[in-house]
Amino acid sequence: GQHTASQRKNVRILLVGDAGVGKTSLILSLVSEEYPEEVPPRAEEITIPANVTPEQVPTNIVDFSSVEQTDEALSAEINKAHVVCIVYAVDDDDSLDRITSHWLPLVRATCNATAGSSADDSAASADGDVVEGLPEAARKPIVLVGNKIDLIEYSTIDSVLAIMEDYPEIESCVECSAKTLHNISEMFYYAQKAVLHPTSPLYIMEEQD
Ligand code: GTP
Ligand code: MG
Repeated sequence: GQHTASQRKNVRILLVGDAGVGKTSLILSLVSEEYPEEVPPRAEEITIPANVTPEQVPTNIVDFSSVEQTDEALSAEINKAHVVCIVYAVDDDDSLDRITSHWLPLVRATCNATAGSSADDSAASADGDVVEGLPEAARKPIVLVGNKIDLIEYSTIDSVLAIMEDYPEIESCVECSAKTLHNISEMFYYAQKAVLHPTSPLYIMEEQD
């Protein structure tokens, strides 16, 4: 694959995952470097300036809340994101199961729908902030994030590695804790890296036919 993505001027990271897994806590822990005991349903979109990110690229971090947002709003955010972090809670097997039963298929379906419908890529170059080319829309890098590692003594990485074998768009996985701040900056670094230095081919969806 080509590394066109490395010329990117910003990175937009979207966090999705079941209710209660800690998406909002992760974002607020990163920003304040301490664990917020009380969080709103959805964090405001934040922009991390280039000079404090490991890759020196301005980074937008976007929260999702099923309480505050519709399915349509979620689809729009998935399309705008350069990388999607699917968050589960390591102590909640249901949230782990939902990665394959819901979240990964949803991201794929959303990207495919966009690739099929917006055939006009001439509009993209005129306004760099809107749609970027079709092939890129078909490949949305994913990072799997297991939060609340402070609650358990074991690791969920074996289950996650099995998922990664079936979904090549998953760039990396990480276990972390918004509460202890363990691996929090790493998590956002992996997300940046998935966009700026993707390791898998750029045209996964086409290659799978
Ligand atoms: P929704 O907004 O409902 O989709 O949930 P969310 O994914 O944003 O989760 P939220 O950040 O609201 O956290 C849910 C609960 O989990 C809260 O009570 C948090 O305090 C708690 N929590 C979040 N992160 C951690 C963690 O790393 N460890 C522990 N022990 N609890 C956590
Ligand atoms: Mg939330």
